[in-house]
Amino acid sequence: MYVCLEGIDGSGKSTQVKLLEKWLSRCGHEVLRVFEPTNSKVGNLIREMLQDPHATDENFQKTLGLLFAADRMVLMDKIRDAEGEGRIVLSDRCFYSSMAYQNDAEWLSQINRFARKPDLVLLLDLDPETALSRCEGKDSFEDVDFLKEIRDKYLELAKKEEFFVINANNGINKVHDDIKRVTGRKLGMCI
Ligand SMILES: Nc1ncnc2c1ncn2[C@@H]1O[C@H](COP(=O)(O)OP(=O)(O)OP(=O)(O)O)[C@@H](O)[C@H]1O
Ligand SMILES: [Mg+2]
Repeated sequence: MYVCLEGIDGSGKSTQVKLLEKWLSRCGHEVLRVFEPTNSKVGNLIREMLQDPHATDENFQKTLGLLFAADRMVLMDKIRDAEGEGRIVLSDRCFYSSMAYQNDAEWLSQINRFARKPDLVLLLDLDPETALSRCEGKDSFEDVDFLKEIRDKYLELAKKEEFFVINANNGINKVHDDIKRVTGRKLGMCI
């Protein structure tokens, strides 16, 4: 099973994906935790390019879109292999981050057509002001208005693609409990 946590910057994805990994491992599951962009050469190039002052230019965005798709293509092989070994794959972001953060949904769908849809997507939803306050001290270039737009795009995707929306304004433990409930149900676990 391929499970993905999505949400705007500072929504708690990295925190929660690690907690979920620990919980599932304690319950006896074999888990592979991954993240996007990955730590491949392409992933590192993406991280470097995101720091560029021109990162929001249209052509630059297209290049980034292609690089994200290339990075994801390599990841898909790893996910398939892990699933073949009976592991649960937990991913910090997936194809839907491209859909939320970038424009031209049709083009994004085309260049990502090899990218498998996760079996379960948990959207960590919270108000952008809170998210930004959690990012303080981190290398973040997003502003509140931009994050509002991204949040709206995520909520639209959530309706269309049947994500589970988790209230991420809550404290870490409550969010973890909500995630456990949804994931456990999907896996047929008794919790
Ligand atoms: N529910 C929560 N309540 C309060 N603080 C939280 C909560 N979840 C996470 N945090 C804190 O907020 C900060 C951002 O969390 P985290 O790095 O998990 O977010 P993220 O979604 O992975 O962000 P990014 O998209 O930038 O990688 C961290 O300092 C984390 O400890
Ligand atoms: Mg993170």
